[in-house]
Amino acid sequence: MTTRTLRIAMNGITGRMGYRQHLVRSILPIRDQGGITLPDGTRVQVEPVLVGRNADKVAEIARRHDVELWSTDLDAVIADDATDVVFDASMTSLRAETLTRAMKAGKHVYTEKPTAETLAEAVELARLREGTGVTAGVVHDKLYLPGLVKLRRLVDEGFFGRILSLRGEFGYWVFEGEHQAAQRPSWNYRTEDGGGMTTDMFCHWNYVLEGILGAVRTVTATTVTHIPTRWDEQGREYAATADDAAYGIFDVQTPGGDPVVAQINSSWAVRVHRDELVEFQVDGTHGSAVAGLRRCVAQQRAHTPKPVWNPDLPVTEPFRDQWLEVPANADLDNGFKLQWEEFLADVVAGRPHRFDLLSAARGVQLAELGLRSSAEGRRLDVPEITL
Ligand SMILES: NC(=O)c1ccc[n+]([C@@H]2O[C@H](COP(=O)([O-])OP(=O)(O)OC[C@H]3O[C@@H](n4cnc5c(N)ncnc54)[C@H](O)[C@@H]3O)[C@@H](O)[C@H]2O)c1
Repeated sequence: MTTRTLRIAMNGITGRMGYRQHLVRSILPIRDQGGITLPDGTRVQVEPVLVGRNADKVAEIARRHDVELWSTDLDAVIADDATDVVFDASMTSLRAETLTRAMKAGKHVYTEKPTAETLAEAVELARLREGTGVTAGVVHDKLYLPGLVKLRRLVDEGFFGRILSLRGEFGYWVFEGEHQAAQRPSWNYRTEDGGGMTTDMFCHWNYVLEGILGAVRTVTATTVTHIPTRWDEQGREYAATADDAAYGIFDVQTPGGDPVVAQINSSWAVRVHRDELVEFQVDGTHGSAVAGLRRCVAQQRAHTPKPVWNPDLPVTEPFRDQWLEVPANADLDNGFKLQWEEFLADVVAGRPHRFDLLSAARGVQLAELGLRSSAEGRRLDVPEITL
């Protein structure tokens, strides 16, 4: 049996996503399970190199998780011949430069979203990948969630008939930080640091819509800063310059050419009266389904009740009880880990990853158009990106 080891420089592992999802839930479990096995029997092991600015923090994480290699010098790690893959989960505003340097050095790249702050930069990254031929992957984690995997299966099986609409609710209350510490980093609420709900979430919604329904053709959005003042990690008051909610309507086209209306509300100033922190409802002529992160329930046409509007009477039907659980029928591992495994197999095979920098550029494009739609108060077409 052949064994290969891929050395992965991991930048931003002191952050929330880099530490929890990518290091602790993905790369370390892959390492500890002995790597991944490719269809031809080749075993691919991973060797992380932890990279960050603060030597004490990085060294401590390395010690805690028995990782031998770490550095505070990102440039040197990128330039090192032994590095195969450069991963970035640092703050958004630094990303395009890191990815550019890595690809120019001939490294494969794997990255958190969004890939850049502007469409022009995101497209430039996709072009650079074409030129260098490296394998590039961008986190599309929502498509690997059990709930959305089940939803996609219902679409593939023709469960919905003709799909009419999708409605998404995402969000929860993010504390201002004054009396209770905020549960998200303060840069998320400052435009000048790359923050903002639209920038953060529309890139997710673009690949979710593409991955479940089809291409996004238009966007109409209203973006708002509901909470204008917040308190940062040091307890200092700051002006929240970025939008903390985005209300979007998207015209989507299925591969068969059918139009679907998608509406997605995203808010960090909403309290949860839902089963999960994100939920998508898809309605079609033959059935409907509601998917969250993990669960998916469905209702067929034959089981659809016939409510009659009468405000004088109490509700006569237990609507929520009328839906059936969609089973997983498979062992669905952590979504971040599953995508990492797929990406690493693509690197070894020398082929492109299906969720690449072009897909990510479409996400950045949707965010940019969403913000513009809101500023100009009108619906905008989403032009096709050509490299
Ligand atoms: N896929 C998802 O669902 C998802 C969810 C949240 C965030 N993200 C993305 O992940 C990235 C990180 O977000 P996070 O919530 O983990 O943020 P975070 O603030 O917790 O972590 C940011 C990381 O960048 C480092 N960093 C900050 N400023 C730096 C600087 N000036 N120079 C070098 N390094 C610096 C920090 O030390 C930390 O390691 C963002 O791009 C964000 O959009 C993705």
